[in-house]
Parts: sequence; C-alpha cells; structure tokens
Amino acid sequence: MASNKSTLLILFFSISITIQFPTKTSSTNPDHQQSDSDCTNRWIHIRRLPPVFNLDLLSNCSGYPLFYDFCPYLANHGLGQKTHNLSHSWYRTDPLMLELIFHRRMLEYPCLTADPQAADAIYVPYYAGIDALRYLYGPDYNSSSEQGLNLFEFLTTDSPESWNRKMGHDHFMVLARPAWDFSQPLGNNPLLWGTSLLELPQFYNVTALTVEARAWPWQEHAVPYPTSFHPPNLSLLESWVQRVRRSRRTTLMMFAGGGGVGRNPTIRRSIRNECENNTMNKNVTNVNNVGMYGSGVGGFSKHVTL
Ligand SMILES: *[C@@H]1O[C@H](CO)[C@@H](O)[C@H](O)[C@H]1NC(C)=O
Ligand SMILES: *[C@@H]1O[C@H](CO)[C@@H](O)[C@H](O)[C@H]1NC(C)=O
Ligand SMILES: *[C@@H]1O[C@H](CO)[C@@H](O)[C@H](O)[C@H]1NC(C)=O
Ligand SMILES: *[C@@H]1O[C@H](CO)[C@@H](O)[C@H](O)[C@H]1NC(C)=O
Ligand SMILES: *[C@@H]1O[C@H](CO)[C@@H](O)[C@H](O)[C@H]1NC(C)=O
Ligand SMILES: *[C@@H]1O[C@H](CO)[C@@H](O)[C@H](O)[C@H]1NC(C)=O
Ligand SMILES: *[C@@H]1O[C@H](CO)[C@@H](O)[C@H](O)[C@H]1NC(C)=O
Repeated sequence: MASNKSTLLILFFSISITIQFPTKTSSTNPDHQQSDSDCTNRWIHIRRLPPVFNLDLLSNCSGYPLFYDFCPYLANHGLGQKTHNLSHSWYRTDPLMLELIFHRRMLEYPCLTADPQAADAIYVPYYAGIDALRYLYGPDYNSSSEQGLNLFEFLTTDSPESWNRKMGHDHFMVLARPAWDFSQPLGNNPLLWGTSLLELPQFYNVTALTVEARAWPWQEHAVPYPTSFHPPNLSLLESWVQRVRRSRRTTLMMFAGGGGVGRNPTIRRSIRNECENNTMNKNVTNVNNVGMYGSGVGGFSKHVTL
C-alpha cells in the first residue's frame, strides 16, 4: 500500500530500488482504522538491523549463477512490476519477496513501539530466504550450517536487553521459503539440501513464519504464499469479488506440482501420480520448469469444462 512519507533511494550496481519507509504509522488505511484504537497485547517492536541482514542482500539480485535474476521483482516494495500500466491490483509478484513485502507492511502497522520493553512481540526484519541463496545456490554452499550465526551474534550483543527479556521467545521472523530449506541437520556429511537456520540451538526460541511449515516444530507457523493480487484499497477488492461472482465461469483449473520426490509417500506425489495417469484421457497438462524453488519436478494443471 503506497505511502509517500519518506523515500530512501538505494543504488546498487546498475539497478535502483526505491523503498519508501513511512516514518510514522499510517491511519489512512481502511484496514487499520478499526484496530488503531486498541493496541493492548498487540504492540510490536521492530529490531533495528544493519542493512547487511536485509536491504544489502537485495543488491545481488542478479548475481546468483544458478538462480534466476530477481531484480525485476523488487519493484513496488517487493510486489513486482504491474502486469500492465493501467492495472491497480495485479503485479508480477515473486513469492521470494515475502520478506520484503512483510517488512514494508510492518512499518505501517498501527501498534509499533520504539521501546522493546513495552512490546508484546519483537519482529526481526531479516531477509532469511534471500540470504539463504548464497548457501543454496552460491559460493557458501559448504558453510550452510552458518546461516544465522552473525544475526544471533548481533541480536544478543546489540541491545542485549531485548533478547534477554524473554531469551528470544518473543522474537519472530519471516521466511519466504519452505522450512525444509532451512532445516538441514547440523553436521550432515555429505551436505544435502538446505541451510541449518532452523536447526541452530541459537534460534530455538524464535518463532518463524514460513510459507511451508513442518508439522511438529512449534516455532514454525505457515503463512500463505503471496499472490499477484494486491488491491490498494477495500473498494477495489470488493469490486473484484463482485466481478468474479457475476462472471460466467466455465472452466475450473487446478495446479499440483513441486516437491514430494523423497522415498516416502506424500500427498503431493499421490496427486501428481494420479494426474500422470490421467494425462492421456483428460484435460491434464504436464507443465515443466514452473518451479521457483529449484525442485525441478514441474507440475500438472488440470482444466475441467463445467
Ligand atoms: C554479492 O556478490 C558478490 C560477488 O559474488 C560478493 O562478493 C558479495 O559479498 C555479495 N554481497 C552480498 C550482500 O551478498
Ligand atoms: C507503460 O508506461 C511506461 C511509462 O509511462 C511506458 O514507457 C510504457 O511504454 C508503457 N507500457 C505499455 C505497455 O503501455
Ligand atoms: C564444497 O566442498 C566440496 C568438497 O570439498 C567441493 O568439491 C566443492 O567444490 C565445494 N563447493 C563450493 C561451492 O565451495
Ligand atoms: C531459550 O529459552 C530457554 C528457556 O526457555 C533458555 O534456557 C535458553 O537459553 C534460550 N536460548 C537462547 C539461545 O537464548
Ligand atoms: C482505490 O484505489 C483506486 C486506485 O488507486 C482509486 O482510483 C480509488 O479512488 C480508491 N478508492 C478509495 C475508496 O479509496
Ligand atoms: C494408474 O492407473 C493404473 C491402471 O489403471 C492403476 O493400477 C494405478 O493404481 C493408477 N495409479 C494412480 C496413482 O492412480
Ligand atoms: C477437454 O477440453 C476440450 C476442449 O476444451 C473439451 O471439448 C472436452 O470436453 C474436455 N474434456 C474433459 C474430460 O473435460
């Protein structure tokens, strides 16, 4: 949601990214009007991190040899470029930008406090999924157990009272990749997939909002992948809902893909197997190279004429 309070212009290489940080909370947003009045138990403090943990990481958006160039997706505070010039709500959004999108939205949260002692929760604006790229696809592959160690060092030495108040139990961060990408057991030899961010005892107390949580760790909470639909206000959302309700919809499309390549049976793989079986006689299409996460599995989309 655009707000023109202050502008921080960052120039990296040949690209320029404009990120607008509101200096105080906004009450012009209709989503917020109701909640402004009562912040009881909802105060959040944002930990101030050196840019090496967030904004600096965006500078290498075209620099990962085995990963796609995600520079175009940084536009519009991580929403990506508009699908066309007249669009108000539709953007080419890359889910990997969730950390940036969330950070930007948090700065508009109506119950922010500058005092960590007054906060009910403490947000750590670390772009973990983007930082993970250098371990997953870059030169630091062999140091994947080290992701997060510098951050922990910072969190516990810079204003240690924030951490020490609840030993990190009130801290939370957002991961724009599945938890599996951060849970390689420490000491794996040979190294397999992932960093060990979620395996480090240092982060045991920290809550992680992730696009795909594992079933058992209480620290992980699943949040939806960002979509490409970002209406700037409620009336545009409502008018879209009306339009969809009114329109004649004759085709149902579903997509199942990615992941589930291990030895044990999984729901994803069962769906894919069933689709594979049906490819011949029904309107099921095998779509390859759609995965953003390098699983290399591709997926199936199914069109049903109603
Ligand atoms: C960006 O990439 C360059 C070259 O690969 C590397 O030296 C630098 O440390 C990277 N910067 C960040 C913030 O990852
Ligand atoms: C969209 O707007 C930009 C800037 O005004 C212009 O350069 C570009 O040609 C437009 N694109 C289309 C598809 O109209
Ligand atoms: C990681 O270590 C292995 C084995 O020592 C080596 O073959 C490989 O080149 C290293 N990878 C990177 C990215 O340094
Ligand atoms: C996590 O919390 C426990 C108490 O619940 C505490 O003993 C431990 O030191 C904390 N871990 C860190 C890394 O602060
Ligand atoms: C919603 O956003 C659109 C596009 O920016 C704007 O034209 C419209 O006036 C806005 N409506 C309200 C009620 O703010
Ligand atoms: C695929 O089709 C074969 C033959 O009809 C059947 O035996 C098998 O169970 C099917 N597999 C799945 C996953 O539906
Ligand atoms: C598949 O698509 C074609 C053309 O859209 C349609 O005529 C046919 O009925 C569809 N078949 C099924 C099983 O949905």
